[in-house]
Amino acid sequence: MLILHGSDLQTGRPYRPHAAEAFLSLGRDLAPDLVVLSGDLTQRAKAREYQTVRDFVAKVQAPLVITPGNHDVPLYRIWERLVSPYGKWRRFMSEELDSVTRLAGATVVALNSSAPRRAIVGGRLDARQVAFARRALTASAGSDVRILVTHHHFVVTPDGGGGHPLPRAGELLRAFESMGVDLILGGHVHRTHLSTSRALVPDPEGRPGIPLLACGTTASSRGRPPEEGANGLHVIRVDDRGVEVTPYRFDERSRHFDPGEPVGFPRWRLGAETAEDHR
Ligand SMILES: [Fe+2]
Repeated sequence: MLILHGSDLQTGRPYRPHAAEAFLSLGRDLAPDLVVLSGDLTQRAKAREYQTVRDFVAKVQAPLVITPGNHDVPLYRIWERLVSPYGKWRRFMSEELDSVTRLAGATVVALNSSAPRRAIVGGRLDARQVAFARRALTASAGSDVRILVTHHHFVVTPDGGGGHPLPRAGELLRAFESMGVDLILGGHVHRTHLSTSRALVPDPEGRPGIPLLACGTTASSRGRPPEEGANGLHVIRVDDRGVEVTPYRFDERSRHFDPGEPVGFPRWRLGAETAEDHR
């Protein structure tokens, strides 16, 4: 299975249309099984910004999973934030805030981690959403690749950039491990940050953890160190034995995304033996 993962387009002032076009162009070349956009699709949740995103996603030629980020709800329009924080998301993008997408051999659950009434920049996932994911994944075949998409991050970045991770991140990851989640995709930190659930959840059996793949900003000027001003995306290959992620970086001169070094993760729930084989 091949996944093209972008994040944090932030249409509006920081938006870089050339990088967005290059994302679409790579999508046409790779013909992925799934395209994921993990939130902050707009900068200020304005109608014209959403229109830009809608025009963008209309050109995606693959099954698409999206999730809202903290920028996809109004920040300064306080009344709208309180009364109808997802009004424009629903009007332009999707009626759903949490979603389940079933593909041949894969189940993708997207959980909305923005929390306009409880947080400003940070995110939240609540018990109702965890139960939603569990129901969806319980109904999927055991052999399905189980993918979770959520905007906010679980593990703090090495320099702390991107702010605090999700509250109760360890507890959440333990729950997602118990559901057999194979892979978690997100953004928000505006840099590539690859880690696993073992950063927060010890495992006495020594099994590797769920890969946590935070993608840099794909099409905005808001990259954070060490990717200041840079644009990135992830190309992810999943098979029976593991997950391989290749971070790509946008080259301003060629106006293409170029691949970096791939990083491999074993399919953690298949056990430590498989992990050894995969190295
Ligand atoms: Fe964000």
